[in-house]
Amino acid sequence: MNFLQMKHPIIQAPMAGVTTPEFVAACSEAGVLGSIGAGYLSAADTRKIIREVKALTEKPFSVNLFIPESTVANEKQLEDAYNALEPIRTELGISSKKPKYSISEFDDQVQVLLEENIKICSFTFGLPDEETVHVLKENGVYLIGTATTVQEAKLAEQAKMDAVVVQGSEAGGHRGSFHGELTFQPLNELLTNCLNAVKIPIIAAGGIANKEMLETALSTGAQAVQIGTALMAANESGAHPIHKQAILHSNKGCTTLTTAFSGKTARGIENRFISDMKNVGIAAYPYQNDLTKEIRKEAGKQGKSDFMSLWAGENVHLTTAGTVEEIIEKFI
Ligand SMILES: Cc1cc2nc3c(=O)[nH]c(=O)nc-3n(C[C@H](O)[C@H](O)[C@H](O)COP(=O)(O)O)c2cc1C
Repeated sequence: MNFLQMKHPIIQAPMAGVTTPEFVAACSEAGVLGSIGAGYLSAADTRKIIREVKALTEKPFSVNLFIPESTVANEKQLEDAYNALEPIRTELGISSKKPKYSISEFDDQVQVLLEENIKICSFTFGLPDEETVHVLKENGVYLIGTATTVQEAKLAEQAKMDAVVVQGSEAGGHRGSFHGELTFQPLNELLTNCLNAVKIPIIAAGGIANKEMLETALSTGAQAVQIGTALMAANESGAHPIHKQAILHSNKGCTTLTTAFSGKTARGIENRFISDMKNVGIAAYPYQNDLTKEIRKEAGKQGKSDFMSLWAGENVHLTTAGTVEEIIEKFI
């Protein structure tokens, strides 16, 4: 047992869109901390998935929320970004219509977490404000921030996070960055620097693909590791079957960083969408995410990996298939 009461010092990375109740519950049952990636969900859907996980396991699990951003929409930029996607919509047979933009239900999600008695909550893309931290802590919730730099780790500590995930540049999916210029420090370097700068427990994330990498992170001083890509092709994972196949057949060096899908920098397997979007206008996050939503969905339906967001970390080529339990076994 360790500081979060899981059997193994491993957190299943919250992965919005991938972390179905079956997957989260299977992870908790396998002795790691299952995590719901609730970032894109409404408050009602957050409650629904929490209840579904509770019905499948009595073991602890966490819920991950996206800190909302106050980006002001730039009409011209939105129009250019929408128009830039037109050739892809045409290729997929999607008719043009006025785009719909989503609104974060962060405060209501926090309320749901309290009502559902969730005891571990993690955040990415920023830190919760003082009042939110206060109310969650008063209710005994363990809070985990995300940092991609030493400065962000210090800010997480100052904001009274109980622990911080340090996300190395190898990590799959979105960068959790929220302060200063985007920087890309590999995990080993970032971990060592953060260990010297903060006292709260550190969870290491980014490219951890086997037992040896887990042991290196722990011996360096991390209290636990957070793994995403290594679990994504698991039988129970909610990743699209095409995404799983792309992961299982990937080669070393196949990932790249892109803002094309969401307007925010993220790492995934390079495909045509990423290369086609290199020289066109992209809207800011979260608008670009809304603008590409239908394309990603339709591409999934039509089985076209060219236009799907194939999020994956730098060590994706080491990912194996199997049940969650079988994959976790290889780490311990
Ligand atoms: C498909 C995918 C979705 C992700 N979604 C989230 C998310 O919703 N919230 C979050 O904090 N991190 C998210 N991440 C980042 C992970 O928390 C973690 O930093 C990353 O998976 C670690 O790198 P690895 O994939 O190489 O293990 C996501 C990662 C992937 C691959």
